[in-house]
Amino acid sequence: MTAVAESTQSTQTSSRGEAGAVPSFDVTLRIRRFDPDTSAEPRWEEFTVTVHGTDRVLDAMHKVKWEVDGSLTFRRSCAHGICGSDAMRINGRNRLACKALLKDLDPSKPITIEPIKGLPVIKDLVVDMEPFFASYREVMPFLITGGNAPTKERLQSPEDRARYDDTTKCILCAACTSSCPVFWTDGQYFGPAAIVNAHRFIFDSRDEGAVQRLDILNDKEGVWRCRTTFNCTEACPRGIEVTKAIQEVKRAMITRAF
Ligand code: SF4
Ligand code: FES
Repeated sequence: MTAVAESTQSTQTSSRGEAGAVPSFDVTLRIRRFDPDTSAEPRWEEFTVTVHGTDRVLDAMHKVKWEVDGSLTFRRSCAHGICGSDAMRINGRNRLACKALLKDLDPSKPITIEPIKGLPVIKDLVVDMEPFFASYREVMPFLITGGNAPTKERLQSPEDRARYDDTTKCILCAACTSSCPVFWTDGQYFGPAAIVNAHRFIFDSRDEGAVQRLDILNDKEGVWRCRTTFNCTEACPRGIEVTKAIQEVKRAMITRAF
C-alpha cells in the first residue's frame, strides 16, 4: 500500500518562496510493519511525504504518523541524539532516526526502515529491549567500592578519568549490539553495549568491582564470543570505539591489569 501526505505547501518549492527559504521535496519511506493483533507476518508499506531539505528520518516518520497513519508505532523521546530510543535499521544500517538526514540518504529512492535485528519485535519498529537491558544489568554498571563512604568526593586525576572517557558516552541505544552477527545468531551473548558499560567501570580508578565484572564477562556468552567484525563501532551514533573497548576488556581479562 502506498499512502501520500498532502502538503499545504507546493511539493518542490519553498514554503516561503523567498531568499534563505528551505527547499522541500518528496520522499518515500518503505517501512516494515508488524501488528500481532492483525497478522502473524510482517509486511512492507510505503508512504510518500513532503519534507524539507534539513529534515531527518524522524521528521518524515512524524509526518506519516501525524498526517497519514496514526497507527505507525516507533519509539522516540529527545529527537536530538541523546535518549537513544529511536535506533532503527535505515537503508540496511543501524542509525538513530533523529540523526539521519534525509538528504544524505538519496531521497530519489525509497528509504527502507526496519526494526533493529536480534530482539523480538513488539509492533512495527518497537522491539522488546528487555534482553538487552538484562545483559546491561548483569555487568553491574555502577560504582562498586568497599569501606565507609567518604565524607568528600572521590578524587581522580584527569589522566585516570581519560582512561574510560570514551565509554562514558554510551546512550544505550542498542545500535551496536543489534548490528552484531554473533548477537543475531545467539541472543544469549552479552553483546557490545554491555561490554562497553562494563569497560566504563572496570577502568575507573575509583571502582573496586573490576574482578567481579571480568569474571562475569569470562562466561561462554561473554567477551570471547566477539569476532571483531567492527559492525558495532560502525553503528555507534556516539562515535565510541566499541571494538577497541571490547579488546581492552579481553586484554584485562588475560593480564588482570586495569
Ligand atoms: S556503545 Fe554506542 S551503539 Fe552501543 S549502545 Fe552505546 S551509544 Fe549505542
Ligand atoms: S529520539 Fe532520542 S536519540 Fe533519537
